Amino acid sequence: GRVAVVMGGSSAEREVSLDSGRNVLAALKARGIDAHAIDGIPALLDALRAGHFARVFNILHGQHGGGEDGVLQGALESLNVPYTGSGVLGSALSMDKTRSKRVWQSLGLPTPKFVALPRGGDAAAVHAAAREIGFPLIVKPACEGSSVGVTRVFEEAQLDSAVELAAKYPGDLLMETLIEGDELTVGILGREVLPSIHIVPKGAFYDYNAKYVAEDTQYLCPGLQGAAEAELRALALGAFDALGCAGWGRVDVMRDRQGRNWLLEANTAPGMTSHSLVPKAARAAGVDYETLCWRVLETSFR
Ligand code: DAL
Ligand code: MG
Repeated sequence: GRVAVVMGGSSAEREVSLDSGRNVLAALKARGIDAHAIDGIPALLDALRAGHFARVFNILHGQHGGGEDGVLQGALESLNVPYTGSGVLGSALSMDKTRSKRVWQSLGLPTPKFVALPRGGDAAAVHAAAREIGFPLIVKPACEGSSVGVTRVFEEAQLDSAVELAAKYPGDLLMETLIEGDELTVGILGREVLPSIHIVPKGAFYDYNAKYVAEDTQYLCPGLQGAAEAELRALALGAFDALGCAGWGRVDVMRDRQGRNWLLEANTAPGMTSHSLVPKAARAAGVDYETLCWRVLETSFR
């Protein structure tokens, strides 16, 4: 049947999603699949009620109309329409980094020390939290993606502006220890764990610019070798399963200078742009972009 590739939407990651979506659409079409672009959740629901599509390839990113936070998944469940990727619980939990971390912590999985900050909390509470975490730390919106609103804070004087920036986005804030070391990420495709990628940004960290604009970010794949790589992949799969995720996704990790891995977050509709990580990891595993899109579509066959 016809496949709706839902992209765009109204989250802060709209442009990234449109970029991901156009690439996915072209790949599915090249595979002979009757795939069509749909922008955002309201248009998708209208088209589904009109009986236009048999299944959904969800490449929306982010919360609040972003389609990555469980809301779309619930609507599709209630309409009995199959869709790619994680269900309601895995999507909702993964969108919320603070609650993801609480689940991991409860299972003894390593994640940086953190304090959850309610939005609009007073400055004294923010400064007290920072003293508890210690510097350097990182401040982020708890429920955004693509590093939007994220600031690395090395001294107390930078704290207020970091909180102000993160508070521009909906939801609560998260303050956590900044792990200094290597940024690693692990893609998951079906039950296959892809080779890790070690991301080496030219600038200080892998921010929005380094993710989507800069051409000088370096990607090493596999990111680690031997037992260290196997251990990292097992950790990522365990973290993914712990959140109730399914189908495909990507788990982001920091590796400190002592070689310890720290879980940052899981992404249930990871980027599929030409700069994105899952396509690079898949390619290293011998899975080209078209085949990757087909295999993600297969996660809706359940
Ligand atoms: N949130 C972006 C799309 C990613 O994780 O790739
Ligand atoms: Mg993310």
